[in-house]
Amino acid sequence: MSSAAEILARCAELDRYSAHRSYLERVYLSPQHAAANAAAADWMTKAGMRTWQDAAGNQLGRREGREPGLPALLLGSHLDTVPDAGSYDGMLGVVMAIAVVERLGDRIDDFPFAVEVVGFSDEEGTRFGKALLGSCAAGGTWDEDWWELRDKNGITLHSAFREFGLDPRRVGDAARRPEELVGYLETHIEQGPYLEAAGASLGYVTTIAGARRFKLSVVGEARHAGGTPYPRRRDALVGAAEAITTIERLAKASDCIATVGRIEVMPGAVNVIPGRADFSLDLRAETDQARDAMWATMCADIEMLCELRNLELRVVETHRAPSMPCAPWLTDAVIGGIRSTGDADPIGLWSRAGHDGMAIGAVTDIGMLFVRCFDGISHHPDEGVREVDVAAGLDAFEHAVLALADSWQAEAS
Ligand code: GLV
Ligand code: MN
Ligand code: MN
Repeated sequence: MSSAAEILARCAELDRYSAHRSYLERVYLSPQHAAANAAAADWMTKAGMRTWQDAAGNQLGRREGREPGLPALLLGSHLDTVPDAGSYDGMLGVVMAIAVVERLGDRIDDFPFAVEVVGFSDEEGTRFGKALLGSCAAGGTWDEDWWELRDKNGITLHSAFREFGLDPRRVGDAARRPEELVGYLETHIEQGPYLEAAGASLGYVTTIAGARRFKLSVVGEARHAGGTPYPRRRDALVGAAEAITTIERLAKASDCIATVGRIEVMPGAVNVIPGRADFSLDLRAETDQARDAMWATMCADIEMLCELRNLELRVVETHRAPSMPCAPWLTDAVIGGIRSTGDADPIGLWSRAGHDGMAIGAVTDIGMLFVRCFDGISHHPDEGVREVDVAAGLDAFEHAVLALADSWQAEAS
């Protein structure tokens, strides 16, 4: 197994491990997570790797280099999905990493490092609202406060660990030490339209956007929809609606990207003025400074508009990840890989999407290869990649790993 067609077939096979028949959703610590790990482990074994699941549910495989126990070049991506997902966000990178190991085969026996593949268990944060749980565990940045996070059924992260067969007290065992790793390389679909617009199959990532997420609550007063005159109304939903259009206006006028993806209105009845509206805010930018300046402006404007409507604003930050630059020496290998496919002038992009590299980057250098996707669409079932682009990506990725084996060797000797 190492052709682009077979990679696409394996991505399709992973679609079977979904919590729903009619759409794909695979969340952290679910039976579908276990099934996807088992499938990946099987493919890793077929590619000649020793496999294990770590203390945070990440699936790993390893093939030793020229002697056992050398630091590892880590390749991979994630196996969890958003609700109603496509088949490639994350999964393509895991399946391609396995295919590269399979293609390299016995050549790895002469490498100056081991090669490991990881299928991270939680990148999206779909279940507990906190993204990058799997890669934070591997990056050694697990926060004990996270144990009390709850899913939509009220199950805590702590209980979910136990139900999955993991011991919460051992989560620290998943943490990698910098000296165990050479670096981390990930292939991912672009999830945007830039490569397609440029007519390029592949691109390299310069930096991953810094992200912050918030839960904002606008609090007013629930009252009778008919009986309450306008001067007496403190309608939380109208305040939230104004806040949301303010967020869009400010972001559009900047280089930042802001999304309100979820809103909940209480008490949620047709004949009651909304007393409270809770909504999410996802904020990204190429640099942390730009992102933080945008948030300061947004927050001040939303506070002001709430005040004018006699509404209270409450803000809870739920996620913060600094922007993560890709290491030049890994990026050079990725660029060389893209060039080897016939693209003389590879395109570099900053990733607007978050990736596991943001978390594993705490312990090792990272590099990323982007593969063009159809119409820039992702986080949607229509997400798609062309076989020809996957074939080019596989060649580029293999070339990059071989170049790293050569240069690491040169450095070590
Ligand atoms: C992950 O896909 C993210 O960018 O939110
Ligand atoms: Mn995603
Ligand atoms: Mn992803």
